[in-house]
Amino acid sequence: MKEYETRRLVLKVLDSTSAEQVLKYFLRNKSFLKKWEPAKDRNYYTLDYQREMLDKEWKEIQDKCMLRLWIFKKEEPDNVIGSVSFTRIIRGPFLSCYLGYRLDNNEINKGYMTEAVKKGIDIIFREYKLHRVEANIMPENKASLRIVEKLGFHYEGLAVKYLKINRRWEDHMHMVLINPKI
Ligand SMILES: CC(C)(COP(=O)(O)OP(=O)(O)OC[C@H]1O[C@@H](n2cnc3c(N)ncnc32)[C@H](O)[C@@H]1OP(=O)(O)O)[C@@H](O)C(=O)NCCC(=O)NCCS
Repeated sequence: MKEYETRRLVLKVLDSTSAEQVLKYFLRNKSFLKKWEPAKDRNYYTLDYQREMLDKEWKEIQDKCMLRLWIFKKEEPDNVIGSVSFTRIIRGPFLSCYLGYRLDNNEINKGYMTEAVKKGIDIIFREYKLHRVEANIMPENKASLRIVEKLGFHYEGLAVKYLKINRRWEDHMHMVLINPKI
């Protein structure tokens, strides 16, 4: 299976055989992620659901319609600590995708997500040859805004009531990074 390294992390594409590790991550971080993510179905926290999701994503990743990299610390190779994703890859004259990410509550503020997203962008610009990465972030999510700021994204405006997060339509700041080479 495809994997990449950064200084402190290993970033891996996973298939459904890793559903148990992924489920453990989501169960551990259920309340941490609630504030920032769409509400989850009750069966989200089951092995069957996670297997199905990983299977579906695996196929999309093979077709280069998306990329999700699961994050591991080098010294804990079996413990998922988050993911970074590039979804809805659109080609033609757009060459764009959406960026998303989530970490483990026990690992925040150590620079891990900036490290992972930086590598992800490198892959999506060089290997996938995309022109544009878009991130939509709630104004109060200061840590997330800081990540894209550190990586050079620019602000394109406020998307009003853009996404339903934790059962409420929330405004999002539209943050964009352009590939200088394409
Ligand atoms: C957002 C998230 C991925 C951050 O991961 P992380 O590994 O802690 O991020 P990093 O350490 O790489 O960078 C975070 C930066 O935000 C800063 N920060 C953290 N909390 C902050 C706050 N409340 N106000 C201002 N800055 C803050 C950190 O100091 C750091 O900046 P610095 O390097 O200049 O000191 C993590 O908190 C998370 O998974 N949150 C829940 C899911 C989520 O919000 N996903 C994104 C949706 S858009």
